[in-house]
Amino acid sequence: MSFKRAVLWAGAVIGALVVLGVVAIFAIFPRVSAAPDLKVEATPALVARGDYLFNHQLACGACHTPELEPHRFSRVNDSARIAAGRRMGGAPEFPTDIFAPNLTPAALGDWTDGEIYRAIVSGVDRQGRPLFPVMPYPFYKSLDPEDAKAVIAYLRSLPPQPVTLPRTKLPMPLPLVMRLVPADPTPEMRPGAKNEVALGRYLAFSSSCFECHTKRNARGEPTGIPFAGDNPFGLPGGGVARSANITPDAETGIGSWTRAQFIARFRAMTPEVAAKVAPEASEIDTEMPWTAYSGMTDEDLGAIYAYLRTVPPIHARVETFTPPPSK
Ligand code: HEC
Ligand code: HEC
Repeated sequence: MSFKRAVLWAGAVIGALVVLGVVAIFAIFPRVSAAPDLKVEATPALVARGDYLFNHQLACGACHTPELEPHRFSRVNDSARIAAGRRMGGAPEFPTDIFAPNLTPAALGDWTDGEIYRAIVSGVDRQGRPLFPVMPYPFYKSLDPEDAKAVIAYLRSLPPQPVTLPRTKLPMPLPLVMRLVPADPTPEMRPGAKNEVALGRYLAFSSSCFECHTKRNARGEPTGIPFAGDNPFGLPGGGVARSANITPDAETGIGSWTRAQFIARFRAMTPEVAAKVAPEASEIDTEMPWTAYSGMTDEDLGAIYAYLRTVPPIHARVETFTPPPSK
């Protein structure tokens, strides 16, 4: 066989393998179990707990609730349209708009409780199609099922908002790659407040602190030093925000902060305060959902602080804001 023919043959074989591989990925993945048979008994207490989780501790509303006015520092949500969905806007380095869907009964009315649970913790929709992991389901897989049930009870209690947003359209190869991400959950029990460090760890992972404050690779998987920050977020105005080093290094992290200072830093950026930040000032913006977290309890914020004291201190300075290049 001539060299040229051998190359052609090899090319054809590789091509066939690639096609087979793609077909196999579509046929086999996402690999998740059927939605569980779950029935959430909504009580006023469970709905109130879900409100706290959705709007504050888990910050679901930071993505799924529309903004009152775009580009206010850290986002000011439209409280009349909670969970009505939001166009998240493409960061400059990411060409596609991302849509966080409507989660009110107008949209999820015919989903079962089990299907909503599976979407949150496994990352597939009602039909079993994979969700783009901007939705942080890889970090919700350990969510306490009781917390998930509270969120479901809350979503069911919301006034329906008749909004249909487009589905996010992703460029290849993302639709292929993301089929590999959904997985069955590995639920954990939410530790009690007496076990402060364990509770703080549970919160730091389920509230997305770890996700944003650890450097990630192109596929979004955390590969950096935990909590050392430096994840860049391109901002709509052209600037860049980078997540801070929140390890207990005294100079470049939050090692010199007291528990009271830590809690006060979160309390400072309420939606009322953010609403007063002038749009020009918010050219320096942030991805950190301060406004949502500002409503977290002292107990929860204090537990996160206690846990962050236990991670290894990393000496690494992060420049958290780069303003847009001057025009
Ligand atoms: C960082 C942004 C972000 C956060 C935080 C977030 N989501 Fe999502 N969520 C999304 C996006 C984006 C999608 C759509 C993904 C897609 O189109 O593939 C989504 C999809 C969903 C879906 C599937 C809806 C459908 O119509 O297919 C559910 C249910 C959901 N999210 C619930 C939640 C809950 C509950 C929380 C909090 C525990 C939460 N999300 C937190 C961004 C987010
Ligand atoms: C969506 C990404 C994102 C999430 C989620 C997030 N952060 Fe941040 N964080 C940032 C960015 C970006 C900055 C730097 C800009 C700023 O200060 O807002 C920051 C700044 C901070 C700072 C300020 C440090 C300083 O030196 O002033 C602290 C403290 C902090 N984050 C803690 C947390 C904790 C605790 C959580 C979880 C409850 C969390 N963050 C969740 C992105 C995020």
